[in-house]
Amino acid sequence: MIDNFSDRLVKNPKIVNANPELREWHTVTYHTRMPGLKWGRTLWVAMKAGGPFQYTGLEMRDAHWDLKISPEVFDEVTQELINAMDDFKVPEREKAEVLAAFGAEKVTAGSQPGAVNWRRWRRAGRDPDTGLNPGTAERAAKMVT
Ligand code: HEM
Repeated sequence: MIDNFSDRLVKNPKIVNANPELREWHTVTYHTRMPGLKWGRTLWVAMKAGGPFQYTGLEMRDAHWDLKISPEVFDEVTQELINAMDDFKVPEREKAEVLAAFGAEKVTAGSQPGAVNWRRWRRAGRDPDTGLNPGTAERAAKMVT
């Protein structure tokens, strides 16, 4: 199902052409990163379905921030998830559970106006370039000299 879903996104012009970042990923980057992404998505759904497999990858905000996903693109991806589940005749109850878990991430996976700037909030006070806490770089420099 995740295979079908992921391959559908690469063929959907509303997703591929939504912005330069998504176009780059779905026309070039996917050649090398799609297998790992399919594995990460499978673990995420398995975890949301109650395990026992656990998702251990990046947080949704961090995995998607640079892709500048709009709410409209998120909705288009959700429709492709529905199409993929229908292809595999996923029962209505399980389908509703997956869609509820997926929908709950709409704010965290998106990074357009209205998305909570959680990633930047968490980095408040950190060096914008290194992401390190104040003084960490200096302490690290002292350790190597
Ligand atoms: C609830 C919604 C979503 C879930 C659960 C999800 C899940 C994931 C996971 C598990 C990863 C891999 C993270 C890692 O590398 O550790 C990922 C990355 C990615 N997701 Fe999503 N995703 C969601 C929404 C979206 C949407 C709406 C798009 C828009 C097309 C999208 C496109 C991508 C892309 C292109 C990557 C690969 C980034 C890379 O190469 O590192 N995702 N997603």
